[in-house]
Amino acid sequence: MFKRSRFLFLIPLLAAAVALRFYAADVTGHWLAEMHLPDGQTRQTSLFLKADGTKVTGYMSASNADPAAISEATITGDQIRFSVERDNYGEMRTTKYTGTLDAAQTELTMHMPGPNGSTRDLLFKRVSTEAPGPMPAPKAKLTLPPAADVPSNGLAKTPPMGWNSWNKFARKVSDELIRETADAMASNGMKDAGYQYVNIDDTWEAGRDAQGNIQSNEKFPDMKALADYVHSKGLKIGIYSSPGPKTCAGYEGSFQHEEQDARTFAAWGIDYLKYDWCSASQVYDYHSMQAAYAKMGKALQNSGRPIVYSLCQYGLLHSSEWGPKVGGNLWRTTGDISDNWASMSRIGFDQQHELTRFAKPGGWNDPDMLEIGNGGMTDTEYRTHMSLWSLLAAPLLAGNDLRSVPPSIMTILTNKEVIAVDQDPLGKEATRVAKDGTTEVWARPLKGGSYAVGLFNRGSAAAKVTVKWSDVGVTSEAQVRDLWKHSDEGKSIGEFSAEVPSHGVVMLRVQPS
Ligand code: GLA
Repeated sequence: MFKRSRFLFLIPLLAAAVALRFYAADVTGHWLAEMHLPDGQTRQTSLFLKADGTKVTGYMSASNADPAAISEATITGDQIRFSVERDNYGEMRTTKYTGTLDAAQTELTMHMPGPNGSTRDLLFKRVSTEAPGPMPAPKAKLTLPPAADVPSNGLAKTPPMGWNSWNKFARKVSDELIRETADAMASNGMKDAGYQYVNIDDTWEAGRDAQGNIQSNEKFPDMKALADYVHSKGLKIGIYSSPGPKTCAGYEGSFQHEEQDARTFAAWGIDYLKYDWCSASQVYDYHSMQAAYAKMGKALQNSGRPIVYSLCQYGLLHSSEWGPKVGGNLWRTTGDISDNWASMSRIGFDQQHELTRFAKPGGWNDPDMLEIGNGGMTDTEYRTHMSLWSLLAAPLLAGNDLRSVPPSIMTILTNKEVIAVDQDPLGKEATRVAKDGTTEVWARPLKGGSYAVGLFNRGSAAAKVTVKWSDVGVTSEAQVRDLWKHSDEGKSIGEFSAEVPSHGVVMLRVQPS
C-alpha cells in the first residue's frame, strides 16, 4: 500500500530546490580580471553589474575594446549568464558568457569563449559593491578620408620568401639572433632554395627622440649596422610596425609618424615592412583601415627605397580586395597561426578557398607564417603545411630556429620542386577542385601548361585519394611527377590515385601530353 509518510522527507528537499531556484547571490559591483598574455602584456577586463533579484544589468569593458552592454543577464544561485553583442568590423557578433560566483562572493570565475569554440576561465575579483552608473560612451575615434589608390611598387612578383622571428622567438628577438639567423640562412641551404628576407617582428622598438624619430631598444643597438650585415650575406632585412600608437606587444607604433618612420626604415636599409593593425583599432574608426594602410603604403613609396609592404590585419574587412590598392604586396587573411594541426589545417584548407582569385604577381594572400620545425606537428603534417602554402602561392616565411634545423625539417623547407610551385611566375593560387569527406584535391595552373596538384587527407586514417584530370582542367593523358618522392610516376589517363597517410599529402606536377 502507498505510504504517504515514506515520501515526507522529499518535502524539505523540494523546498530547498525551489529556494535555490529563486535564490540569487548579489553580484552588484565592479569586477576586475587581469590576463597576462604570453607576449608579456597585461590585459584588464571589467564587469560593471547591477543585480535586481535574478535579473542583472550592466556592461563589460576591456583595455583594448569599447564598453559593451550585457543583455539576457540572469543570476541563479551562484550561476551567472549573459550575452554581449559587439560590432566586429561590420558584423554584429553575440558572445554568450557563463560564470560561477564563489561562496564569499568576492570572486567570479567566468568561462570566456576563446578562439575556435574553446573556452578559458577568467577570474574576476570584486573591486567594489557599488552599483554602476550609466555605461560610458565609446572613445571618439578618428575617421580618415578615403585614400587615393597607391600605385604598385613593382615588388614581390612571386611570393616573398624568408624568415620571421615571431613564431619561435616572440619577444626574444635581438641583433645577435638576426645576425646568427642571417649567417645560417646564407650557409645552410635556405638561401640557395630561395629564402631571402630576414624579418624582425615585434619588440625591437623603443620610444622616439626629441625630433620624433623612432628608436630601436637595447636589443638592437644599431639597426643600420645590422641591415648592412644582413645585406653583406646577400640577404634582405625586414622590420615591423603598426598604424596604431602601440604594436600588438605594446611597443611604439607609427601612428602619426608614418612618413618619418618610412624615411627612417629606408635610411637604415630596410627592405620589407610588416604593418600590424593592433592598437589602431583604438584610435581609428574601423572604416578608416584602408586609408590608414594607404598612408604607410604611400610613405614607403615616398621614401625612395623599394620596401615590400606586408599588411597584417588578420583578413578583416576583406583585405584581399583592397590590399593592392594601398600598395600592399601581401595581406594576412586570418588570425594568427599556431604550431598545431588544427590551427594550420583550418587556416590552410578552410579559410582560403574563397580568396584565391585575389592573388597575383605583386600581391599575395598571406595565410600567416610557417610553423615548420617548431615541434607541434609531425613531419607528415609539416609536409602538408609546406605543400598547401605552396599551392596557395603563399609567402614562405619560415618561423623556426634556423641555427639548428634537423635534416628532416630542412628537407621539407628546401624542397625545390615544391618551392617552384609556390614561386611559379604565373602567380595563380590553387583552388580546391574536389572534396570527399576528409580528403581534398587542390590544383593550380603553372606557367608552361602544367599543373600542380595536392592530394590531401585530413582524416585520422590513411586513405586513397583520386584526382580526376577533368577537375583540374586536363583533357588529355598526362605525365605525373611526385614532388616529395622526386620521382616520375609515368603517364595517367583520366585520373590518378594515391594512398595518402593521415594528415598527409601527395603533391604532383602534372604535364598534359
Ligand atoms: C600579431 C601578429 C603576429 C605578430 C604579433 C606581434 O598578433 O598577427 O604575427 O606580429 O602581433 O606582436
